[in-house]
Amino acid sequence: MKSLFFQKIVVITGSSMGIGKSMALSLARQKAKIVINARSIDKLIATENEMKALGFDVLAVAGDVTLEEDCKRLIETTIAHFGTIDILINNAGVSMRGAVEDLSPQVIATVFNSNAVAPYVLTKMAMPYIKKNKGSVVFISSLAALRGLPYLSVYSSAKMALKGLAQSLRIEHVNDGIHIGLIYIGITKIDKGKTTLGSNGTLIDLEQRDGLLANTANYVAEKIVRNIALRKRTTVVSVTGKFYYFLVSVFPFLIELILNHSQKRLKKLYS
Ligand SMILES: NC(=O)c1ccc[n+]([C@@H]2O[C@H](COP(=O)([O-])OP(=O)(O)OC[C@H]3O[C@@H](n4cnc5c(N)ncnc54)[C@H](OP(=O)(O)O)[C@@H]3O)[C@@H](O)[C@H]2O)c1
Repeated sequence: MKSLFFQKIVVITGSSMGIGKSMALSLARQKAKIVINARSIDKLIATENEMKALGFDVLAVAGDVTLEEDCKRLIETTIAHFGTIDILINNAGVSMRGAVEDLSPQVIATVFNSNAVAPYVLTKMAMPYIKKNKGSVVFISSLAALRGLPYLSVYSSAKMALKGLAQSLRIEHVNDGIHIGLIYIGITKIDKGKTTLGSNGTLIDLEQRDGLLANTANYVAEKIVRNIALRKRTTVVSVTGKFYYFLVSVFPFLIELILNHSQKRLKKLYS
């Protein structure tokens, strides 16, 4: 049987490693044509070569999604090469650490721009093609968006903005037959080289997460691909994620109590 993704043109931001790369591989296996993107050219080209060696149709477009001209180039290069866009996955995003009172304005801007502003800009630019193809726009959010988390404030609120964006788009395009997916991801095992921003803008290398609660990037990617295939509105990844989603929605005071009790430990860990 022909794959649902056969010859679909998929743009995935932030896809040289981690969940973005896993999605690229999964969709390419299902015969989609993939545009990968990231800032660092070496890692991006290595991923492109790896995918080409597997026989996949892939195009790498280097660029920083926080820059309007790079977003424009990503969309224009995709159109010049593949002719259209069926699916846009807004995946690129950086996280941060630190108390609000310590955050440099540059960190606030960088985290907001990559996680929230870039998805607006790219969705706007890709929309004519997505509309024509009755395609999908997907936003990669986080369980951190379900309520404001201490020492992760900018990341939490930038990811929260994606819910508003998804809701607005669904109404604006109610008659266009397009799919808008919103994905809440929890703790995921990370690739070597994953970093987060410290409060003053220094890059902090994150340690590997091997706990039982951490999902693999491949598992998370499969859930996102399933969201697109079934054209679901919202996906909360994993049983633990769903349990947290339930607690935050039904017993928000309980989560606040737990966070209050953990404040000192969280401060030590994250600020
Ligand atoms: N991993 C988790 O536990 C987790 C949990 C919840 C949500 N998420 C979300 O899932 C998404 C993917 O996370 P991940 O853990 O797979 O990330 P990751 O391993 O850190 O990879 C991030 C990718 O995005 C690229 N990138 C970062 N900033 C960019 C920018 N401004 N422009 C273009 N590319 C950029 C990176 O390459 P360059 O650095 O070379 O640009 C890399 O390819 C993110 O939106 C993240 O917030 C992750």
